[in-house]
Amino acid sequence: DGYDLHICCMGAGYVGGPTMAVIAANCPKIRVCVVDLSKKIIDAWNSPDLPIYEPGLMEVVEKSRGKNLFFSTDIDAEIKKADIIFISVNTPTKTVGIGAGRAANVKNCELCARKIAEVSEGSKIVVEKSTVPVRTAEAVRRVLDCNEKGLKFQVLSNPEFLAEGTAIPDLMKPDRVLIGGVQSPEGLAAAEALVSVYANWVPREQILTTNLWSSELAKLVANAFLAQRVSSINSISALCEATGANVSEITRAVGMDNRIGKRFLNSSIGFGGSCFQKDILNLVYLCETYGLRECAEYWNQVIVMNDYQKKRFSEKMVSTLFNTVTGKKIAILGFAFKKDTGDVRETPSMFVVRDLVHEQAKVHVYDPQVKREDMWTEMDYTCKMSVANYPGLEEAVTTAPDAYAACDGAHALAVLTEWDEFKELDYERIYKSMAKPAFVFDGRNILDHDALRKIGFEVHAIGKPDPNKFSDL
Ligand code: NAI
Repeated sequence: DGYDLHICCMGAGYVGGPTMAVIAANCPKIRVCVVDLSKKIIDAWNSPDLPIYEPGLMEVVEKSRGKNLFFSTDIDAEIKKADIIFISVNTPTKTVGIGAGRAANVKNCELCARKIAEVSEGSKIVVEKSTVPVRTAEAVRRVLDCNEKGLKFQVLSNPEFLAEGTAIPDLMKPDRVLIGGVQSPEGLAAAEALVSVYANWVPREQILTTNLWSSELAKLVANAFLAQRVSSINSISALCEATGANVSEITRAVGMDNRIGKRFLNSSIGFGGSCFQKDILNLVYLCETYGLRECAEYWNQVIVMNDYQKKRFSEKMVSTLFNTVTGKKIAILGFAFKKDTGDVRETPSMFVVRDLVHEQAKVHVYDPQVKREDMWTEMDYTCKMSVANYPGLEEAVTTAPDAYAACDGAHALAVLTEWDEFKELDYERIYKSMAKPAFVFDGRNILDHDALRKIGFEVHAIGKPDPNKFSDL
């Protein structure tokens, strides 16, 4: 059919969709098809209204869709056609059974492997793109080996390091691509086949090849180190608030040390998203499974600190508002877990909303990308709080059409996602429309606090000295 190679990707989510779109855009001779069990998601990928928001994604998809990039629910047919199959399905934290709340659920990966073994008519390379516990490739290989046709599959690990909100630039210019494989002639040949795909746009020296287990584990370690930096600086933010030191000045002073570096060193309300917590819990559980209690406890502290930071924020809001928010309107600016995405999985904003609802506040949420139904889905999944089981929830949380509507008549506004547009709001107008005293809680340290204080706001930020509490010598 004129193509040099056929790639199939199982799972059309935040990783599968953008990753395959970028492969297709850079490799016009490769036919790429992304399949998913969900017809709704596949229909959206085939429409002008993509299922996820990601800057630059639409342009990349439009470049190749219908030419060498396809989205389909015909999983069996696409598996049959493919030379290389990526498994890019979700691997969430288990909610029940052994390791519940910590272990990663690899059920979807195993189901994909079983499907591949069942329908394949020729040998293929199977690539784990999902983030999985180390040694999952062993299970995948054993399932594949159980095919009754004598087919030989090669299993590779190729974890994804993209970040939501910057997925397209991350994929176009990755810091590195990591490919793990079995260290046998067949395994090395399979790894080389995948290297050749990436080499269409990634410099060879940035494509690393390792053994399978290093590759699987490196992904967990990368996320653990990134999240650890956030928790480390957040722990210092609490000490800053107690002492009059300013966490932004600390970040600057510490980050200018080349050995430390300045990225991922901003304090905030805490990290969210579908990966950091899940992957660290996965790492903690692995350590425990191998009897490494001290290692498990060490990494678990990253999560403990993150939970503390979120809790500390909502407690600070309540205590500042004279120890009661009952019946008070509170504006929440931002619900996505970070800017430039509509993803709300594990978003810290949700935990603040939850705490405020428990305190019987009237919460008005505005986010430029988050849909009300996605907010409910995540609150139900993670906080076990739904319109069905929590009487009054529907009335307690309003989704506002814009920031001004959210703030109108509110006692406080809290910035919980660092959307750029929140820096540009007309805060004079907002101040006039709010109840007095008007409080600002900047959970991301993105606003101009001096300017807000001049307008008349009482401003509280993360790790910043309270001017009413501390003075210079
Ligand atoms: P997602 O939930 O957005 O997408 C997963 C998709 O897989 C869903 O659409 C689901 O319907 C589909 N699926 C599940 N089982 C299937 C099956 N048996 N056959 C076909 N399709 C199936 O998940 P996301 O965020 O794309 O994550 C995928 C993996 O990549 C996870 O392991 C995650 O940890 C990892 N990852 C995620 C990153 C992110 O920023 N979201 C970054 C790097 C890695």
